[in-house]
Amino acid sequence: MGRLVVVSNRTGDLGKKTQTGGLAVGIGDALKSSGGMWMGWNGDVVDSPDSSNTQLETYENVTSLTISLSVEEHENYYLGFANKVLWPSFHYRLDLMDYRTKFAKCYAAVNRKFANTLHPHLRDSDLIWVHDYHLIPLASELRRKGSAHRIGFFLHVPFPSVDVFSAVPRHGWLRECLLQYDLIGFQTKNDVQNFCSYLKEHSEVKFLAPNLIKWRGRTISIGDFPIGIDVGQFSAMSHVSDKGIELERVRRSLLKRFQIISADRLDYSKGLPERMKAFRKFLDSYPEYLGRAEYLQIASPSREDVSAYADIRSELEQMTGAVNGKYADFNWAPIQYINQSIPREKLALLFRCSLIGLITPLRDGMNLVAKEYIAAQDPEDPGILILSKFAGAAEELGDALIVNPYDTNEVAQAIRKAATMPMEERKARHRTLLSQISDQDAQQWQNEYLAALRSVQATVPRSA
Ligand code: G6P
Repeated sequence: MGRLVVVSNRTGDLGKKTQTGGLAVGIGDALKSSGGMWMGWNGDVVDSPDSSNTQLETYENVTSLTISLSVEEHENYYLGFANKVLWPSFHYRLDLMDYRTKFAKCYAAVNRKFANTLHPHLRDSDLIWVHDYHLIPLASELRRKGSAHRIGFFLHVPFPSVDVFSAVPRHGWLRECLLQYDLIGFQTKNDVQNFCSYLKEHSEVKFLAPNLIKWRGRTISIGDFPIGIDVGQFSAMSHVSDKGIELERVRRSLLKRFQIISADRLDYSKGLPERMKAFRKFLDSYPEYLGRAEYLQIASPSREDVSAYADIRSELEQMTGAVNGKYADFNWAPIQYINQSIPREKLALLFRCSLIGLITPLRDGMNLVAKEYIAAQDPEDPGILILSKFAGAAEELGDALIVNPYDTNEVAQAIRKAATMPMEERKARHRTLLSQISDQDAQQWQNEYLAALRSVQATVPRSA
């Protein structure tokens, strides 16, 4: 069987025992089980515009190949085209999209740089798996260099509806780039549907079957492959005792208090202000919970050089202050807001001792935090997941309380429903959710994707 070569914008740290983040965990596991290579940006930004600073390191059976970005590449490729054009538009925020020609040029150039760096390391039998919106043109750049490998693409973020995608400048070019892959994978059926509808309206591709197309002599497969987590590993982390958290749990139970928890990157797609409004509405509508409900929002800093991220940060700080100012008492504050990354072990423990997981993004490719919250629960006394219908995870997790994150009343009522849910119903919902995430876990995700990629017809070498 051929070697697996994974390419993503960032590589995970293979030297670490515990990876953080779904993409890194999933890929790290896939690579360790099959052996192979992981290529990506090492996170360094260097002054010299043409310095690529390639590093090659080996951890057991996995080789990591990393490059640095120059200041200009970081600015125009990563912050620019990836995070000011593709990220907002794929999350339905065309109002936040900031398109510049130089962003698109640099995005193409960095993808060429990835291809130039990777190509000399490739063997004919390699299977190449490219991840996420940063690297859409990578297959096209590799094909330009004569690569006839099987190359798969997986989009971790949503693929938007036809109207939204066709509003992205250069969407036709992005489409042509995507069509250079042999397998195009999405998180959900809804994403697949959006992509196929777009192709039907905006291209000449021929549909051989609902998820199989023919284009310029090549056959391309399209599919949904919902990403999962390592359930056993996360659940085990939630059992490791932490004295501080245990004491807090006892204190809360004595005071008849309960905790609502949310953990997100501080991103405008996560619906944090809307969530705070819903929590405020909950306190207004059900004053019996004043002094009892505590909402812990962990928001890890992200992409702070993009102004939309700085804006959301100050909005949240202001809202937290206002809600706490209005409702807090001498011995109770309704909102605890942490703008820091916290270790996954701690997060797992916090999930386990929170009665409600409130995960209400306005748009999300999947949202692995929802799955982690379920994995961390004690099956004998499980908490309740409230989940946005706009998270990819909602397609699988129908036994959560599914809400519209824009509807403040609906979310407030869901919090109330969760706070009063009988134990039997909690257990029954949790059982179904746990079996769902265990069936569709990280291993299953990679197995299904790689099996599909292995079974596609090898591509005919051609220039893009
Ligand atoms: C999302 C994207 C990933 C990305 C991660 C962190 O989950 O789908 O591709 O790596 O956010 O964002 P960052 O910009 O810090 O890499």
